[in-house]
Amino acid sequence: MRHPAVRRQCDRQICRENGIEAGCGWKIVRQQEEFMYYPDDIIEEVRSRNDIVDVISQYVSLKKKGANYFGLCPFHNEKSPSFSVSPSKQMYYCFGCGAGGNVITFVMEYENYSFVEAVKYLADRAGITLPEMEDSREAKARRDLKNTLLEINRLAANYFYYQLKQPQGRPGYEYLKNRKLTDETITHFGLGFANKVPDDLYRYMRSKGYSDSILKETGLFFIEERGSRDKFWNRVMFPILDVNNRVIGFGGRVMGDGEPKYLNSPETKLFDKSRNLFGLNFARKSREKYLLICEGYMDVIAMHQAGFTNAVASLGTAFTAQHAILLKRYTEQAILTYDSDGAGVRAALRAIPILKDAGISVKVLNMKPYKDPDEFIKNLGKEEFQKRIDGAVNSFMFEISVIRSEYNMQDPESKTGFYNAVARKLLEFPEKLERDNYTEAVAREYMIPAEDLKRLVNSLGGRFGTAARPEGRQEDRPRKKKEKDEGIRKSQRLLLTWLIERPPLFETIKGIIAPEDFTDDLYRQAAVMVFDEYEKTGTIEPARILNQFIEGEEQYREVAALFHARLEESLSNEEQKKAFSETIKKIKRYSLEEKSKKATDIKELQDIIRQKSELAGLQISLE
Ligand code: GTP
Ligand code: MN
Repeated sequence: MRHPAVRRQCDRQICRENGIEAGCGWKIVRQQEEFMYYPDDIIEEVRSRNDIVDVISQYVSLKKKGANYFGLCPFHNEKSPSFSVSPSKQMYYCFGCGAGGNVITFVMEYENYSFVEAVKYLADRAGITLPEMEDSREAKARRDLKNTLLEINRLAANYFYYQLKQPQGRPGYEYLKNRKLTDETITHFGLGFANKVPDDLYRYMRSKGYSDSILKETGLFFIEERGSRDKFWNRVMFPILDVNNRVIGFGGRVMGDGEPKYLNSPETKLFDKSRNLFGLNFARKSREKYLLICEGYMDVIAMHQAGFTNAVASLGTAFTAQHAILLKRYTEQAILTYDSDGAGVRAALRAIPILKDAGISVKVLNMKPYKDPDEFIKNLGKEEFQKRIDGAVNSFMFEISVIRSEYNMQDPESKTGFYNAVARKLLEFPEKLERDNYTEAVAREYMIPAEDLKRLVNSLGGRFGTAARPEGRQEDRPRKKKEKDEGIRKSQRLLLTWLIERPPLFETIKGIIAPEDFTDDLYRQAAVMVFDEYEKTGTIEPARILNQFIEGEEQYREVAALFHARLEESLSNEEQKKAFSETIKKIKRYSLEEKSKKATDIKELQDIIRQKSELAGLQISLE
């Protein structure tokens, strides 16, 4: 149903501006836009003159239900409609996958348009003539540090790319060719080359007028009194792009043997390793239901080249919960294609529970006898790889096979040990039905009489109690804290949603809750705007507020979620009133607790204590 990705080419303008005469052939329009802006009021006009229900109806069949419209979400697979469009909020939100935003973000996501493309399309639709975009010099004055860093990274990527095609880049180009990459692949991923000259890139950036202090922030240089140097030299370069196609860092590989094999950008204001996955900018647009997760740059690239454009890598760092949350936006199924060596197996065993916790089901692909996807595809080809994908085993069966390899089945004692280990593992399923299904599957696979295994599971279960997992997690404490934080955030979301749905509630909470009581940075930013707008106009247009978050960042999704929090459906009026009052108290109490942690003088503390005790006796009514 979604349109295929639009391949975007460099129009050479930026290349020329930046002294790369030839044009790079690799350029994504989004970056170019960061040099230019439309005035905010024009964007707001475009937004407000395109009714969201009209626009979305062009793509999704919608049915009215109460005040809102519902349909099948175009951003994930579903059978019953959880995608809602609100005419009053002028926003959409999917209660299934969390996709949400206003009319501009919808067109961006659905048509795979950049921000400017979406604005142009909607302006056209509403018959609005757009002014020329503001000139880059003016925009420069407004750009903040992050944008400057993005600009430098982008320039560096272009520079590396350019070098690769020059005579001095020959070794790099040949290395990549030897690794069987086509020119098309090299261009698609924007691969490049860092020269042998130790301060090549540094001098280039200085010639562009960037100061040492800003260059230091990029992580691309060693800035020193005695003379500054490039971090990367004599390496082939892999630019790392975020989901918005912005260059946030680099990896560089030695050509041949040498240490370290890969050198990566350090974490910077742009590059958070635990929140970015290499290749996700492309993979999110593939039409497969599942994503392939691997370990390295070359694996991702080899898989994409072979047509598996749904592959991503976590790049040397361990797979984190944030990675999983990020992936959950795009898929509910993952196939691990980690290296087949011991380290790869251990990494897979660590990643499985993290993915499952995020609600992603996991399979594991068998790469043997090859080490990694790159080598596998090179040797056996893509058809064979597809067969391995089709034959990937469920993560539980994989875990059992790893346990199996630790026991010697010729030795009776060891064999018993294996059965016990299997039974303990089976006890991790809290649901009896699921546990039974897996017990049968394992029994079949390992030729253990099913009844015997069941009996063993039950007797162990009786001893430990099925709920008490023998291999229980140790990180219970941080979990509790996380749950509490999430609880508070949920309350803050609920309150924001209530406020925009029923603005008179502002009067109710006056004097109790202010924007600074929203403890999460992003929530507070949104709250400031919501409160501000109510103050000024007496109403709130959430879709307009969202416009502040659209450009470049994916934050608008989170903000959209802020305006669509829901209580359990079934609550009675009485219960809703109670929930409202409890939510307010919870938010305020937490905010006061946080404040008291930071408080330094006694007066301030006394004030907090007074407010706390007042809060306890407070009556808040919904009316
Ligand atoms: P090739 O040898 O180029 O095929 O790489 P590979 O992807 O097969 O390498 P490997 O399995 O050794 O490493 C997987 C990933 O871990 C790489 O893509 C890097 O992101 C990271 N990595 C590997 N070696 C190093 C290193 O020496 N330093 C750092 N920081 N990361 C590394
Ligand atoms: Mn490899």
